[in-house]
Amino acid sequence: MTDNAREQLLFGSLSQAEFLRDYWQQKPLLFRQALPDFKPGISTDEVAGLALEDSIESRLVTETPGARQPWTVRHGPFSEQDLTSLPASHWSLLVQAVDQWVPEVSQLLSEFKFLPAWRLDDIMISIAPDQGSVGPHYDQYDVFLLQVEGHRRWTVGAPCDPDTPIIEGAPLRILRQGIPEPTQVWDLAPGDMLYLPPRYAHHGVALDTCMTWSVGFRAPDAYEALHGLALRAELEDDIEFLRYSDANISPAEATDRRLSAASLDRLRGLLTRTAARDEVLADWLGAYMTQNKYDLFDWQGTENQLEADAANQMGDMAEDVMVRGALPTRMTAWGTRLYVNGRAFVLEESDRPLIDLLLNGNRWRWQSLWAASQSDSARRTLNVLLLSGSLERADGDDV
Ligand code: SIN
Ligand code: CO
Repeated sequence: MTDNAREQLLFGSLSQAEFLRDYWQQKPLLFRQALPDFKPGISTDEVAGLALEDSIESRLVTETPGARQPWTVRHGPFSEQDLTSLPASHWSLLVQAVDQWVPEVSQLLSEFKFLPAWRLDDIMISIAPDQGSVGPHYDQYDVFLLQVEGHRRWTVGAPCDPDTPIIEGAPLRILRQGIPEPTQVWDLAPGDMLYLPPRYAHHGVALDTCMTWSVGFRAPDAYEALHGLALRAELEDDIEFLRYSDANISPAEATDRRLSAASLDRLRGLLTRTAARDEVLADWLGAYMTQNKYDLFDWQGTENQLEADAANQMGDMAEDVMVRGALPTRMTAWGTRLYVNGRAFVLEESDRPLIDLLLNGNRWRWQSLWAASQSDSARRTLNVLLLSGSLERADGDDV
């Protein structure tokens, strides 16, 4: 194998093309020693500390083996007393979206550039003592489970479907029958990483005190898409002109009190014509996929600020001011439309260089962005991004 080919292997195992062809969204894959020298940059105590914060989402899953309802879930924020009085085994503390708060955690995301950036969700961190787990379950998301400290035994079964029995009322999709026919049992050590596509039954049990990072990828379901598209389509001026029509209906159908197959086809046609508008689809998908778990950006305040001071232009910020994307900032684009943290910005053809700059970096000289902003909408967008906190000054960074 040439050095070049070796360099392109994902986590030292296989090429991006092989991964996308044979595993992504299809089957689990264990990457042994994916990141052998990985240094977590956050300790288990610090992770537990995050679970005390009321602005951070956390859960504590406790198992009482043999009980009629063995699984209990409590939601954070927790008190120090809650966390210091935990038993020696059989619990797991999960902290959501740690990458949005801790730069040392967010750095790991740069390892996943072989997948669409806009599919990325967040990094959840779990800590657990011996036998700690969240139970046998399935998720609707793709996840890369990086073993960061200690050891965890993963039992993986077949993909689940809507008929797979789950424990009623449990906030997680815990499988009533566990994982009856495991297809794989893998013990993971620090540096190992397991990829799981959506819906595969899995159960990760800590074998000692351990920390696992889950890099999750989101995908909308049909309800989210239909609901979101309906709200977006409402903004189209001519939406009331896109309407069910039964011109040329036959006399037999006209006098039949039942719905006909043709009536369903006409409705399907109406939905298809609505969804044929690329900008409607893109605006919804771009905004939805860049939304943050925590609504951290003050859009309304920013709008008001810009209204109140129409002359507010940051074009004259000093030559050498550096800016970067705030940790939670997610961006994507479609044509000349830019999507940032759940917002859509409609720019002009002449602003394509600005969009390229924004999508292909995370740290910029403010003046380069300003110079690439040819239209008023681009300059307004940059102001909104800075004032809302989506972009932040990075003065302390080296140039
Ligand atoms: C864990 O880290 O304990 C749970 C992650 C998962 O199974 O999705
Ligand atoms: Co899971």
